[in-house]
Amino acid sequence: MIDHNTVQQILDTADIVDVVSDFVALKRRGANWIGLCPFHNDRRPSFYVSRAKGICKCFACGEGGSAVNFIMKHEQLSYPEALRYLARKYHIEIQEKELTDEEKQAQTEREAMLMLNEWACSYFEKQLHETQAGQDIGLSYFRERGFIDATIKEFRLGYSSESYDDFYKAAVAQGFNPQLLFDVGLCIPDDRNGGHDRFRGRVMFPIMNIAGKVIAFGGRTLKKDKEVAKYVNSPESAIYSKRNVIFGLYQAKREISKADKCYIVEGYADVISMYQAGFKNVIASSGTALTEGHIHAIRRFTSNVTEMFDGDAAGVKAAIRGVDMLLKEGLNIKVLPLPPEDDPDTFVRAHSYAEVEDYIEKNEADFINFKSSVVLKDAKNDPIKRTAAITDVVKSIALIPDEIARMVYAKECSNLFGMDEQIILRQIKQYRNKYLEQWRKERQQQQSREQRMSEQSGKAPSPAPAMNDVPPAPLPDDFVPETEQVTPPQDANRASSAMAGVDVQEREIIRLIVNYGMCYLAETDYGEGVMQHTTVLEYINNEIHLDQMDFSDPLYKRTFMTALQYIEPYYKDLETFNTQLEKRTRQFIAQETAKQNEEEPDALDSASLISEQERKEKAIKAKANVMAHNELTEFSCGYLIKVLCSIDDDQVRQLACDLATDNMPQLSKIHTQFAVIVEERDKLLNLVPERLYNWKNALLVLRISEVKSQIAQAAPEQLPKLMEHLQELYNVRHQLAAIIGDRVVNPI
Ligand code: CTP
Ligand code: MN
Repeated sequence: MIDHNTVQQILDTADIVDVVSDFVALKRRGANWIGLCPFHNDRRPSFYVSRAKGICKCFACGEGGSAVNFIMKHEQLSYPEALRYLARKYHIEIQEKELTDEEKQAQTEREAMLMLNEWACSYFEKQLHETQAGQDIGLSYFRERGFIDATIKEFRLGYSSESYDDFYKAAVAQGFNPQLLFDVGLCIPDDRNGGHDRFRGRVMFPIMNIAGKVIAFGGRTLKKDKEVAKYVNSPESAIYSKRNVIFGLYQAKREISKADKCYIVEGYADVISMYQAGFKNVIASSGTALTEGHIHAIRRFTSNVTEMFDGDAAGVKAAIRGVDMLLKEGLNIKVLPLPPEDDPDTFVRAHSYAEVEDYIEKNEADFINFKSSVVLKDAKNDPIKRTAAITDVVKSIALIPDEIARMVYAKECSNLFGMDEQIILRQIKQYRNKYLEQWRKERQQQQSREQRMSEQSGKAPSPAPAMNDVPPAPLPDDFVPETEQVTPPQDANRASSAMAGVDVQEREIIRLIVNYGMCYLAETDYGEGVMQHTTVLEYINNEIHLDQMDFSDPLYKRTFMTALQYIEPYYKDLETFNTQLEKRTRQFIAQETAKQNEEEPDALDSASLISEQERKEKAIKAKANVMAHNELTEFSCGYLIKVLCSIDDDQVRQLACDLATDNMPQLSKIHTQFAVIVEERDKLLNLVPERLYNWKNALLVLRISEVKSQIAQAAPEQLPKLMEHLQELYNVRHQLAAIIGDRVVNPI
């Protein structure tokens, strides 16, 4: 367990912009930062990050939360694991006791597998650098290929010895469970020995996920023997899904986002050579066709992709075949054919950086144009082949989600093939409709499959996605769904809608508490003639006591009770904060005064010189006060968001995050220098009492509907009493209506 102070230190240090930036390219937009949402297939930036509030939110899919939540969701970690992740990131030391065997077992399977792979990766690195065989065979092989030490270290390349079970024995001696070794695929069970190594006598390429965790290995043989498989790779496991992982993305992601472009090559060696040559925005498809999952991962960083391939006929064919998925996902694709006989690895090693740059500039081509010219060349003057060639290109164009891009290509295609543009456009449209139909069917099938699975397992239909799982792809913009049957609410009786009314109002009260709980509201007279500093939370708490109200939803209640527990810590922290603030304010005044004294006074008579001096002093003090006031407000108002959005209670944390991000305004597109934007925070004095009245009102409405249904079923002798009770409720409702103007304002 991590102790409370460390947790606090971690939460205080973690900067949400910094944390999110490791996975998403963020751009500044006003007070917020925006980028492509990593939780769904985002085309336009919908992911907002607020540094001041320490939270993030996707306005398209709704995912988001605090830094802890973000890491939990993105890396599929538990709460304490996410804290450990942040601690490592910020070099905060966590005192952890050595794990016992039992604890090792108790760790979730996923965490254990990652831990094992991390250990294995260092093991293979050590084998490479520190053993004789590693140096003689592995390291000299890498040197021959021109990999320098820094590159070898950066990609964490390693070596596995020829032995049958050295690794197996070492891992078991280290305390790893043999079953775990089989599960991640590093070892293979056998009868003779218990288990032996999968990777033997190979140089090791660790495959990392986007966070840099080792999730699999590729091992290349050093034998020329054609009988031996060139690569042995880790099998699929709970932490490794080949469909969704891209080799090199972890090392390349920052460069990709900086360059807003990425190169796709085929092999591990290609990536490493390009990277070392200075083209760091490079990733490998690892010899398979790109999947939606791959593209989803790439698109977090860029939508400009250049595919590099061998310039021979086979290379060109392969390049053209593999691109459909990229087109469908709306990426801007270019191709870069290399000279025949070259692959990216040999090419960059044979040329200087400038030469390669020059070659790219001259040879990089738009994919559709490239494909058109290739198929056209194949068809020559054979009319039948020409028709097939046009259809081939049209089918590719029809995959592109952007309509304008499709039109532009139709035009170019018409020029190139000497064909009427309208006909091409019509063909594109036909194919587009076919695709849409086909995708809809696939989607339906997938949905019913998912439903069946969830029914079978009896679980909720949407389990948390595994680390590498791809969320279902959103449909293109021009997708028109079949008319949906809207079923009218079955249970439209008054009681249930009254209940819903109460729920809405209670949620709103909790929203105010999460977002503004420790904001100063007013001085309150508690009847002893002593005015007291009152926060929003304290005010709500008082009202709840006075009117003997209670939350009907247990989660709201728990969130409220949790918030109350933080009143005392808040006042303590406030004291510390105030002391520091005073110090800073004094320093500010001293600095400003000194600065001002340096300035030459205008030649004035001494009397006006003094009054001028006083005026300036006052101005400095006023400025300092405004600054101090703002800082204090930020501190107080942000207090509960910071605490509740990172708390060790899954439900409360989730609710708090939802409510905090509900409140995060999307940026308005209109910027005006004259508009005075009144923030909700500045209206609390009206808002809080009003929302409390609304809640009371909703409770009354609920009570009234309950009494009414009792009356409907009551025996005649019970009626007078019930009628009297109903009348009382009406009276209270009347009084309340007078106060709130009979107009219940529903929170949005
Ligand atoms: N690959 C694989 N299994 C194989 C062959 C290839 O997984 N049996 C994948 C590897 O990811 C490899 C990529 O396909 O990196 C490209 O294959 P290839 O061009 O044969 O390998 P290179 O990495 O280029 O190998 P080298 O240059 O060392 O010959
Ligand atoms: Mn190669």
